[in-house]
Amino acid sequence: MPDLMRRTFLGVASAMALRGGPGRKSSDTPAVLGGDPVRRKPFPSWPRVGDVDRRNWRNVLEACRWWRREGHYVVDFEKAWAKRMGARYVVATANGTSALMASLSALEVGPKDEVLTTPNTFIATINAILAHFALPVFVDTDLDTHLMDPAKIEALITPRTRCILPVHIGGNVCDMDRIRAVARRHGIPVLEDACQAHLAEWRGQPVSTLGELGCFSFQKYKNVPGGEAGAVVTNDEKLYRHAYGFHSHYRTPPNEGRMDPAECRNGINQRMAEFQAALLLAQMTRMEENARTRDAAASRLRELLEDVPGITPAKMYEGCTRNAWHMFMMRYDAEAFAGLPREGFLRAMRAEGIPVSAGYNRLNRQPFLENTFKTRMFRAVYTDKEIAAWRERNHCPENDRLSDEVIWLSQPVMLATAADMEDIVLAMKKVQRHAEAIRKA
Ligand SMILES: Cc1ncc(COP(=O)(O)O)c(C=O)c1O
Repeated sequence: MPDLMRRTFLGVASAMALRGGPGRKSSDTPAVLGGDPVRRKPFPSWPRVGDVDRRNWRNVLEACRWWRREGHYVVDFEKAWAKRMGARYVVATANGTSALMASLSALEVGPKDEVLTTPNTFIATINAILAHFALPVFVDTDLDTHLMDPAKIEALITPRTRCILPVHIGGNVCDMDRIRAVARRHGIPVLEDACQAHLAEWRGQPVSTLGELGCFSFQKYKNVPGGEAGAVVTNDEKLYRHAYGFHSHYRTPPNEGRMDPAECRNGINQRMAEFQAALLLAQMTRMEENARTRDAAASRLRELLEDVPGITPAKMYEGCTRNAWHMFMMRYDAEAFAGLPREGFLRAMRAEGIPVSAGYNRLNRQPFLENTFKTRMFRAVYTDKEIAAWRERNHCPENDRLSDEVIWLSQPVMLATAADMEDIVLAMKKVQRHAEAIRKA
């Protein structure tokens, strides 16, 4: 078939399929009510392993040079990641949580300090703050972008604010112009949690280089996976030396193994092993292509979703020149689905073969926070009055609403073809057509 005709044919066929018209073999009965699913073909699996991964891994294993002082992979990875980020320094760490902890230590965040952050994040962001006995102060979320609302930061700044910690959740990029402007006005450093935002950019500049420090996670399900691994990125030599020092008992970088008596203080061991770095260097050979695939899938899906009332993809700020699409984030409006609650929608979608999930749930109100404040350690630092004052400020109504409405597709789904995105929308429309029956079942 000539290319143009083929494309026209595919266009008509997919439009018919999207309308649930003729040409589809499956019945229109929702799978959750016993019908055929829209999709039986699995979405891409993760992680992907190639020859370079196997070769690098075996090299480390057989050379028996398993830690950074003996081998070269960790240092090679630090150089490669710094080059890709366009940054002067990278510290490879055991995971993203330790990258955050080392960064907060470099910034000397500690007891009685406040860190402005977001409740729409993975718990690690908050735990890293609490591990330094500082208080996370939650900035409400912008419902449109699912990110820290830049308009709500300034009102929360106090003399105790020691750092602003925005999180580029799902790979979408926070409004770094406004965040940096507030930070500059108050002389407060910015630490970017870019753990979900590999290769994302703000006005053409990689995230992690927009504040004083930036952190990545390379945990197995991240866009660039190394099992468990992380990195601190910075252009500031002093912060680099302290982040490095904290992550390795205050030995001096990159591998000297000695402490500098003039600047050493308490550190711990959060070093990356040679195995992780060898794997990461291999994974990096595929990351650009993967990012392009996710981009193509996401733009097709956004286009298709314009035609689905009740499903609203997260918007991007105008300065976001590249989204990492670690998650494709949307809001679900039950009203447009005959009142079908989100859980019912998710169940019906999964039955149709679409692996969609809910998102983070009101992290600022989870019991771990109050339980932490009751520990001996926190009681030694904070008075009841101080914790009560924290509680008074802990209101994020927009984020509460987002927690109820958010739905996600994860990054391996975005590695499917742009054409596969049609199945997702097809399933949404099918569930929508039968929403009332599903709700009543
Ligand atoms: C936003 C965010 N911050 C921090 C982390 C912590 O990274 P890790 O799991 O590598 O410690 C993660 C990991 O899921 C994350 O998603």
